[in-house]
Amino acid sequence: MTDAVWTDIGAFDAIPRRGARVVCTPQGCVAVFRTADDQAFALEDRCPHRGGPLSQGIVHGTSVTCPLHNWVMSLKTGEAQGADEGRAQTFPLRVAEGRVLIDLSALADRQVLGKAS
Ligand code: FES
Repeated sequence: MTDAVWTDIGAFDAIPRRGARVVCTPQGCVAVFRTADDQAFALEDRCPHRGGPLSQGIVHGTSVTCPLHNWVMSLKTGEAQGADEGRAQTFPLRVAEGRVLIDLSALADRQVLGKAS
């Protein structure tokens, strides 16, 4: 298992409430979400259904609705909700001194994560 690779991806305040920012690496793209009550979560920016860009979805509570076919994913677990089955990969995230840090070591362990469109 790869050691944690905490990467500063920017200011927390730069992410709009109920919105997302995307961080892309050679291994793929990660969507960093901010909820209405200022929690933050990082998921791969790829819906487990057909690869839709979750970063362009609608954030409600601690979930996001995919913009393509309306699957709902938990931001905490990446799991599809309801009758749908699938999971977007999640990444450890912390906010320190107003900066968002995500652990990208899981990306380093993957060959291809997919690209946001
Ligand atoms: S690609 Fe996300 S619901 Fe179909």
